Amino acid sequence: MIGAKTALLAMCAAAALASDPASAATARREPFGTLKDGTAIEAVTLAGANGVSARIISFGATLQALKAPDRQGRVADIELGSDDLAGYVDHPNYFGSTIGRYANRIAGGKFAIDGKEYTLAQNNGKNTLHGGKKGFDKNVWTVEALPGIPEAAAAKLTYVSKDGDEGYPGTLTATVTYTFNNKNELIIAYEATTDKPTIVNLTSHSYFNLAGDGSGSVYDQILTINADKFTPVDAGGIPTGKLADVAGTPFDFRQGTPIGARIRSGDEQMVFGRGYDHNWVVNRSGGGLSFDARAYDPGTGRSMEIWSDQPGLQFYTGNFLDSTTVGAAGKQYRQGDAYCLETQHFPDSPNHPDFPTTLLKPGETYKTTTVHKFSADAS
Ligand code: BGC
Repeated sequence: MIGAKTALLAMCAAAALASDPASAATARREPFGTLKDGTAIEAVTLAGANGVSARIISFGATLQALKAPDRQGRVADIELGSDDLAGYVDHPNYFGSTIGRYANRIAGGKFAIDGKEYTLAQNNGKNTLHGGKKGFDKNVWTVEALPGIPEAAAAKLTYVSKDGDEGYPGTLTATVTYTFNNKNELIIAYEATTDKPTIVNLTSHSYFNLAGDGSGSVYDQILTINADKFTPVDAGGIPTGKLADVAGTPFDFRQGTPIGARIRSGDEQMVFGRGYDHNWVVNRSGGGLSFDARAYDPGTGRSMEIWSDQPGLQFYTGNFLDSTTVGAAGKQYRQGDAYCLETQHFPDSPNHPDFPTTLLKPGETYKTTTVHKFSADAS
């Protein structure tokens, strides 16, 4: 847990940032409830220009709220979630959480490094999903600092996952830094180091609804995904290993298309996923950040672009939201009420040598960045 002195220093940093006339971005730190074992959970609110803000809680390094204006300047939370801690502790849907040590599925919960087999906690039939039974989303992260960056506000959180945690080898030290800048960009940067060879795939599991949390179906929102191929899956959501062309399928989002237009098409892949729940192979031009996806809500004029350096993007239409959760807006969440756009390595990469590697060795640093750019069209 964070020491009182560190907390004080960080608060001073936040206050300095908030009062810096050169920067409109601010960071505010406050309590966000207490776990049953007495652990205090904190929230940090990062506010950029024009009413856009992000609130992160230390439970699961979770993006708890994301507020953005529509074309008339009306601000709404555009990400599903809860306004109290119990909503995150008691519900299994990974709302806004940081996912690790390995986002998405690992077949049979098994993989090998240098011929040695490892068995993970299985929490999705016989497979491992999003890290296992107690992944990074269900652990308390330490709010390290609120770095004072000109024209931006940031929060850096750390979690140390011990050797053997959920079955993964090596002690992994992971950090996630959320930064909000004055260009209405939310930047999520991850880093990790290990003391033994291990596998890593970190992502953010935000459920977006650009019309606002609790506003119902997202099927009319327009999605573009910059990918010519996707990785088809078996009935358990495990990639077959093939990279299939999106052309001529409901997976072709190269031109902006309403999310619901082809979601009941009867395509076998869509039946397996109960809707979209697949990894797209993002078209990349060299290193650095590339354009992954754009979502646009014609009703409110809000749009969000996602840029990252990752090879894959999981597009998931909230297929398992089953009305058993009431969110921050006081409405039940139902299938199709939101979408996740998870920048990531391909699912089950450790068991597919021809997929980009997710191996991390001692002495190396895992580093990846995702940028969300928000805007609204003219009224
Ligand atoms: C996965 C889904 C899973 C969901 C849980 C998504 O990232 O692709 O299969 O059910 O997470 O919230």
